[in-house]
Amino acid sequence: MDKITIAIDGFSSTGKSTVAKRLAATLGYIYVDSGAMYRAVTLYAMNNGYIGEDYFDEAGLIAVLHNIDITFHFNEELGFAEVFLNDINVEKQIRTLEVSRFVSQIATVSDIREKMVLQQQRFGKDKGVVMDGRDIGTVVFPHAELKLFMIATAEKRAQRRYDELIARGDEVDYEDVLQNVQSRDHIDSTRADSPLTKADDAVEIDNSEMTLEEQFEIVYQYALQKINKTT
Ligand code: DC
Repeated sequence: MDKITIAIDGFSSTGKSTVAKRLAATLGYIYVDSGAMYRAVTLYAMNNGYIGEDYFDEAGLIAVLHNIDITFHFNEELGFAEVFLNDINVEKQIRTLEVSRFVSQIATVSDIREKMVLQQQRFGKDKGVVMDGRDIGTVVFPHAELKLFMIATAEKRAQRRYDELIARGDEVDYEDVLQNVQSRDHIDSTRADSPLTKADDAVEIDNSEMTLEEQFEIVYQYALQKINKTT
């Protein structure tokens, strides 16, 4: 059976990665979390003094981009690939609210986007990939056979992210999480390079009132339709 490319875009915390991971596992495809790559660059920038509360040394960071190596390694126990920054597993560190605060700013930089997009296209060169992000259906894989665009209200998304952070033991405030979600929506959709927009041929799914199960079933049916059509 021919493999296809599946692009899942949408606002932050719309549950893209949860559905993408399960879809990839069900179809036997690889899953790539493109947001994790921007988060890993952000962690590097934070740890090496290029970005902080009131400053961003964009030129300095661009000059050392060649020192940033991002790879994914499949974790059998978890059932998905974890992200490594310069050979160190940073899967947990990149999910903090701290990293979320700076990541959208990092993702506005064209030199960084160019490097990430090239690597993402390499991951997908043989198809059989489910990739989620903001520009996957528009820039990374404009010819993807299936493009999904996930939306949900900011309040629902903030609640989901808040529950996730609390479950892993982080001390966070719901209002801070909501503010972060809204501010990232704004930066991600208004930036000059590859802003978050729905591709003309993407299917929009509002999952505000859907369970994970309902959402997966809809997405899975779309995927099967496309796979059957291309075979
Ligand atoms: O999906 P996420 O919340 O982990 O993504 C983190 C940030 O990375 C998001 O605010 C915008 C940026 N991003 C991007 O610009 N392009 C992508 N393909 C994926 C993420």
